[in-house]
Amino acid sequence: MSDLEEINQRIKETSTSKSVNEKFNVSVTMSKLKRNTHVLSKNYDIKKYLDPTKFTFAPEIGELVPKDTPPYLDNGDKYVERISRALAFFKQCALIGPSGTGKTHIVYLVAELAGLPLWEINCGLQTSVFDLFGRYVGLGKENWIDGLITLWCRHGGILYLDEANMMKQDIATRLNPILDQRGHMVLTEKDNEIIQRHKDAFLIISMNPVSSEFAGTKPINAAMRRRMSVWLNFDYMSVGAKIDEKEIDLVVRKTDVDRKDAEKIIRIGAELRKQYKSGDIPYGPSIGDLINWSKLIADGTSFYDAAEETIIALTSDDIEIQGMVRKLIHKIAESA
Ligand SMILES: Nc1ncnc2c1ncn2[C@@H]1O[C@H](COP(=O)(O)OP(=O)(O)O)[C@@H](O)[C@H]1O
Ligand SMILES: [Mg+2]
Repeated sequence: MSDLEEINQRIKETSTSKSVNEKFNVSVTMSKLKRNTHVLSKNYDIKKYLDPTKFTFAPEIGELVPKDTPPYLDNGDKYVERISRALAFFKQCALIGPSGTGKTHIVYLVAELAGLPLWEINCGLQTSVFDLFGRYVGLGKENWIDGLITLWCRHGGILYLDEANMMKQDIATRLNPILDQRGHMVLTEKDNEIIQRHKDAFLIISMNPVSSEFAGTKPINAAMRRRMSVWLNFDYMSVGAKIDEKEIDLVVRKTDVDRKDAEKIIRIGAELRKQYKSGDIPYGPSIGDLINWSKLIADGTSFYDAAEETIIALTSDDIEIQGMVRKLIHKIAESA
């Protein structure tokens, strides 16, 4: 099989078969939401950094360009433009922020706007060197299959390493030589084949902020840190006492819940996020999670029943933590 046939095969497998997806422990997923990209692209000014007409990829890889990504909301922070600039100048950048702050979302959006195929790897999953770099299948040394990182290095696009600080050391070590802008990779398992990094191979890593409060987070490895020229910080729109009216507007617009309920939901979400950031609860709700809660209310479920089915269950399996969250929801909702 040629490389391209192989990729095509992979794409078919990943998009049609869940078991293959699980086997490889990687996800090459695409947003299914319907949206008019033409209208969307007017809102962002990235052409001077990443011009889709300058990139050409094999049609098979072209299928990995995300489609119909919803817009990214921020307070004039111009994250889309800043990420595009970092990629244009330095080929790679790092996104730092708690989970649910839209890091993955914005990477999809940048990839779509720039017309770049997206290769996504969640480093927190038990992904092996074989999955990422490649291996022989069958008997002998006839049939080599490239892993995801190898495919990216050969064919270009954006490699997105989610939770990069959770990456296992053996993988991080092998990644280092590729991280130089004109890097290369050596496939030791394939008679030391040397692959030059494709000229349009960009890298984005994301991670949770490292602090004693975030259980399970650890500093990113030093070699990788040194090779990231730009670091962008992400946070929730509303946290603690800081309530962003735009986030309330968004919930109303997306769900038709009444504004009073939307306000309560954002205030509760903001408080849960604050507690998550200080390590008191294991999860802070994203705007997407709060929208799910609102959707059930808009469909006729009571405010508290809808909370049970969404935000309370989502935060933790632990009955005690669920009790804490429930109490907090009642307290804030009744004081509003
Ligand atoms: N600023 C934002 N604008 C639009 N949607 C957002 C924003 N921040 C988060 N979301 C939504 O919240 C959910 C979680 O975002 P995600 O990108 O998965 O977060 P992260 O990768 O930082 O954990 C998604 O449904 C995403 O679309
Ligand atoms: Mg993510």
